[in-house]
Amino acid sequence: MRHFNGFEYRQDILHVEDVALPTLVTEFGTPCYVYSKAAIKAQWDLLTGAFAGHDCLPCYAVKANSNIAILQLLAAWGAGFDIVSVGELERVLAAGGAANKVMFSGVAKREDEIRAAIYHQIGCINIESEYELSRIQTIAAEMKMPARVSVRINPDVDPQTHPYISTGLKQSKFGVTSEVALSLYQSTIDDPWVSAVGIDCHIGSQITDTAPYRQAAEHVFRFVAELERMGIKLKHIDLGGGFGVTYEQESPPAFDAFAAQILPLFEGTDYQLVLEPGRSLVANAGILLTRVEYIKDTSVHKFSVVDAAMNDLIRPALYQAWHTILPLVDKSDANSCEYDVVGPVCESGDFLAKARLLPELGSGDVLAVMSAGAYAMTMASNYNSRQKPCELLVDGAQVNIIRRREALSDLWQHESLLVDSCVPD
Ligand code: LLP
Repeated sequence: MRHFNGFEYRQDILHVEDVALPTLVTEFGTPCYVYSKAAIKAQWDLLTGAFAGHDCLPCYAVKANSNIAILQLLAAWGAGFDIVSVGELERVLAAGGAANKVMFSGVAKREDEIRAAIYHQIGCINIESEYELSRIQTIAAEMKMPARVSVRINPDVDPQTHPYISTGLKQSKFGVTSEVALSLYQSTIDDPWVSAVGIDCHIGSQITDTAPYRQAAEHVFRFVAELERMGIKLKHIDLGGGFGVTYEQESPPAFDAFAAQILPLFEGTDYQLVLEPGRSLVANAGILLTRVEYIKDTSVHKFSVVDAAMNDLIRPALYQAWHTILPLVDKSDANSCEYDVVGPVCESGDFLAKARLLPELGSGDVLAVMSAGAYAMTMASNYNSRQKPCELLVDGAQVNIIRRREALSDLWQHESLLVDSCVPD
């Protein structure tokens, strides 16, 4: 079996740290997300170790996994946060994160979101268009409060990843060209409230090669040199997130390899390096536990029908993503069969794996869908009126319930019945 930090078979039973997963199934049921604190910490230490040679602020991309307990851990370890909504900002604050270490990304920040960002005096608002800068300028002047901004450059680099998560090409909706960026920086020069403190870029996610990253960084540095020539001196350079992880057979470079490409550019400068890693910190630190309801054998396929579905983990349906699937009880001696692992949702796109070789399964077997710590629970929905799973965070032998399973009544808690007069006879 491939090594998953924090997860291993001990006497044929899959464990998360010191906890046997079947005990969690008995106590908490399925579907259920389980995270390993040690696995997240190990990634955090590798990242911060790799970039230790320069002043570096890793701002965890909250969208990857926004559970407040996970944010709380990262805040305690010194992380800043990359957010894309006021909802994420409020989560970070609720978790004890420092507002001045928050970067606000995203192409469409509403007025109320900008107001909240300025009110809380977050570290930086990453501007994605000329309209957004003028909106920030108006609001900061109205509030008579300072706003720190950065301009997101689109370096027109192909990150060679899935098209849906590729963001640094010039045809994408993200960032602005160097020419537009220049005029944006110029228009902050005399602004009494808005100051340009940084520059940022983010070319995509699940990047498994250092070359596009280096190209984007070089593009940013060329532009920064131009700004310096014009007398505009920034404090930080934010190169975004995107470090790839292993789901199947990818062999993404280690953080050290990315650092070896990037840090030389910073040598001899006093720019703070900001990073926005999401997936690389949490993806392989989480799993989704799901129970086999039925084995359905048609003349064409063998289906393992499980109790988790695309509403719980949409990555396979949306990106044809691969997630390793392991039985909780090691059955390496058993015969293997090819299964489509599918959920109960009424769509043919509802699958967790296609044509997957697994040991022969039966109803009641429990499976661990691996690498489900990032973009899994955060993308979950209530489609088909299915309750969202619970989330557990394991630390050694200690199990923490960090989100309870939704109750049935939670499903319609925000809805209202019509008043009598509106209901037809
Ligand atoms: N910064 C910005 C501005 C971003 O848009 C993103 C991710 C990140 C940082 C974090 O990137 P990471 O280090 O996690 O690669 N739902 C997709 C991934 C979408 C990524 C969106 N932006 C998936 O499941 O693969």
